[in-house]
Amino acid sequence: MCGIIGYIGRKSAPNIILEGLRRLEYRGYDSAGLVTIHTGQFELRKKTGRINDLAAVLKKQPAHGNIGIGHTRWATHGPPTDANAHPHLDQSGKIALVHNGVIENHQSLKDKLIAKGHTFQSQTDTEVLAHLVGEYYKGDLTEAVRLALKDVVGTYGIAVIHVDHPESIVGARRGSPLLLGVGRDENFLASDVSAIIAHTRRVVYLNDFEIVTLTGDDFQVSTIEAATVTPQVREVEFAAEEVERGKYPHFMLKEIFEQPRVVENAIRGRISHDEATGKLGGLNLSPAELRSVDRLIFIACGTALHAGMIGKYLVEDLARIPTETDYASEFRYRNSPIDKNTLVFAISQSGETIDTLAAIRECRRKGHKTLGIANVVGSTIAREVDGGTYMHAGPEIGVAATKTFVSQVTIMTLLAVLMGRMRHLASTRGEEILRELETIPGKIERILKQNDAIAAVAKKYCEANNFLFLARQYNFPIALEGALKLKEISYIHAEGYPAAEMKHGPIALIEPRTPSVFIAPKNSVFDKTMANIEEVKARKGPVIVVATEGNIEIAKKADDVIYVPDTLECLQPLLTVIPLQLLAYHIAVMRGCDVDKPRNLAKSVTVE
Ligand code: AGP
Repeated sequence: MCGIIGYIGRKSAPNIILEGLRRLEYRGYDSAGLVTIHTGQFELRKKTGRINDLAAVLKKQPAHGNIGIGHTRWATHGPPTDANAHPHLDQSGKIALVHNGVIENHQSLKDKLIAKGHTFQSQTDTEVLAHLVGEYYKGDLTEAVRLALKDVVGTYGIAVIHVDHPESIVGARRGSPLLLGVGRDENFLASDVSAIIAHTRRVVYLNDFEIVTLTGDDFQVSTIEAATVTPQVREVEFAAEEVERGKYPHFMLKEIFEQPRVVENAIRGRISHDEATGKLGGLNLSPAELRSVDRLIFIACGTALHAGMIGKYLVEDLARIPTETDYASEFRYRNSPIDKNTLVFAISQSGETIDTLAAIRECRRKGHKTLGIANVVGSTIAREVDGGTYMHAGPEIGVAATKTFVSQVTIMTLLAVLMGRMRHLASTRGEEILRELETIPGKIERILKQNDAIAAVAKKYCEANNFLFLARQYNFPIALEGALKLKEISYIHAEGYPAAEMKHGPIALIEPRTPSVFIAPKNSVFDKTMANIEEVKARKGPVIVVATEGNIEIAKKADDVIYVPDTLECLQPLLTVIPLQLLAYHIAVMRGCDVDKPRNLAKSVTVE
């Protein structure tokens, strides 16, 4: 998961590329580099570390020119070193290339090139691709890229320039996102729109096996088979300031505080009180087709899968349809029996997660209808499923997903009500859920007001090295999500478990230095969960409880309580996740972690 950007136009390329890389840094941040063409020469600067480290190099050794490409890396082949940083040059030193993805057959390609006398400066698969383009170059860079990519097995989003052709940049994609930004007398290539939104809102999303040649005032798109493509220029729906941090110290905190608006955006125009149902227009399935669905499978990764797990509880509870969830990376190889009335639903905020995309493609290969829930308009998953729903949550820059999770759960709720009201869900029940859903933004606001109190709880436990998160039923996926949030930004080992399951092993971990976080709002399984809390207390384990406002009894049992407003049991995850997001955030900050760019992680996982 790297970030790439290209610029060609009348302005100075280095500054535009550097700023674009800052916007892409959340995609990968172990090294960075750029190359421009100036007075017939490459000006190449690359450095291990963050974008600021590259900026420091450029301050000492400025680069010039109005054409260039840049890259911020998440290492796949070869450790983060200056030599392994992109851009990479071909054997002639006249072609420069940046790449996001994995060239799976890079070793066999490298062996053939070495046999032809090529020498390599890095351990990367990307440098092999640069040499391969150089091997095919006979004067036409686009043709050389096309021929080279035909030899490649794997995924790529690339930008390529030739020092003797300062008038054009060549881009291509397969499996890794790449878009063209259409400016006035300038054009851009980028991994995602946040890198160029400050310059243009007009974009062309490239599809797999497409190649683009761009100049300062034009662009041509073709396929790897040299067929001409008529590109669709789209208008991006969010503004530049949405990728700014504003008054917040971290994007993650900003995005946590955006959640009331995010829920409002997710339900806007999607509730019909007259019919007491949800309205999801983009599913592209008729009521009869939706009614014929007799099995639902949610596939996703990470936080998105946790949203799908809540979707399972919602759909089975409200629509009575057998529903399962699966890791996309497992599902794609599991060969699950799917029949014509099984509906596969992909959940992905980025819409580019390669495991989820591959699972969708596996279903489509077998002729099955697939739907998707995505945040990024025009993303690959959004374009390849048969229908679906956009989250309209705005760009999520923090690597740890927060607002997009709450958006996904909101949409799941609408989907469950919609499917339920086509079957056995009474209008009164449907209306009750929808009316309560409309109060959730205000209830999230009330929880956010406890931010300082939650920070105080975080301070008590930020030295711990292990955490357990425990809950039942609708809140069990929240236990998993709370554990994921904590581990991915604070690096503390944390496990989520069904509360009752604790007795079947994890209870062995209980001891005074291991806090247990219980999500125990007032609901049908509260008493059972209380029994589990007692079991932990009896073994001197510290207990933090997320409880319903007014439950003063719990304060006598727990070491710390974080209260959330009361709501319907099926809507509780939308509230109980908020304290856990803030708890993880504050603990990570107190431990000096880079909250927005946690080590080893990247925002969009486009490698398998
Ligand atoms: C969540 O905090 C993680 N950053 C990660 O698990 C993420 O949810 C997962 O990679 C799926 O991403 P997607 O929603 O873009 O497909």
